[in-house]
Amino acid sequence: MNTVVSGIRSTGNLHLGNYYGALKNFIRMQDSHRCFFFIADYHSLTTHPDPTILYPNVKSVLTEYLACGLDPEKSAIYIQSDVPEVVELYLMLNMHAYLGELTKTVSFKDKARKQPENVNAGLLTYPTLMAADILIHNADQVPVGKDQLQHLEMTRNFAKRFNNFYKVEYFKEPIAYNDGTEPIKIPGLDGSGKMGKSEGNCIYLADDAKTIEKKVKKALTDQGPTEMNSVKPECIENLFTLMKVVSTADTVQYFEEKWNTCEIRYGDLKKQLAADIIAATEPIRQRIAEIDAHPEILHNAVTRGKEIARESASKTIKEVREIMGFRNF
Ligand code: TRP
Repeated sequence: MNTVVSGIRSTGNLHLGNYYGALKNFIRMQDSHRCFFFIADYHSLTTHPDPTILYPNVKSVLTEYLACGLDPEKSAIYIQSDVPEVVELYLMLNMHAYLGELTKTVSFKDKARKQPENVNAGLLTYPTLMAADILIHNADQVPVGKDQLQHLEMTRNFAKRFNNFYKVEYFKEPIAYNDGTEPIKIPGLDGSGKMGKSEGNCIYLADDAKTIEKKVKKALTDQGPTEMNSVKPECIENLFTLMKVVSTADTVQYFEEKWNTCEIRYGDLKKQLAADIIAATEPIRQRIAEIDAHPEILHNAVTRGKEIARESASKTIKEVREIMGFRNF
């Protein structure tokens, strides 16, 4: 069985894009892979979060992941900072990571531009920490989005370099997980590209019905079609894309026809879309409430996850120390 590792940024609430884009895949993978899913709280330190928001952020992400269907009985679900072996591997990998390649990383250049007052060494070595997350379990595959492919390529380079330097075939070179299907891209409600936290165009899984209705109502639309069977502008296409994800085929068909015959009323479409988003996400909200009422669910999940992750991680560290020449007295 192939081993899969994926880290999740601990920056606040999950939105529809996270759920339909990545999470659904994670949930499916749990039945066919040996899965490690963790919350990357160390990574979040690169932006110096206020200590008072660190814990609530981790907690809400963990709650929502469990509510969506990540299952501690099937996967190791853990908090990165609960597994100190990761930090040890990070240190070792850093000795073989070079300034030139780290400063060339796209995410580093982006962040350095965005936070020029805080270009810290953690930011620079973000890719080695990510490589440590992955290599600590000697993963075969990593389910990541396009924005993480460069980090994954660097992980392979670090693995290869380690193997070459110490003349071993120890680390695998993990590849991006791909189940052959195009990942679903959830658009934003503002007529632009994708739904994203920094774009401020999100519907969150934790949003209540009223909030969802309000957000959908405000979604950008145009004047309406003036010619039969015309091509939809991006903002309208986006609403249909969302509808295809949450509504029945009949509903989509109905509004497609209304569009084609220029009889479409965006108010009706939005009402239907909001109702279908609410229905699709209601079970998740119920489960969030259940977890909030029973904090032992979180405790049990991460306690179990930590146990499994540390067992796997300590085996790797023991072998890596051996390879690198550390010996006990
Ligand atoms: N860098 C990833 C992101 O921003 C999160 C992450 C950290 C990760 N460690 C990882 C993803 C290991 C996959 C594997 O989304």
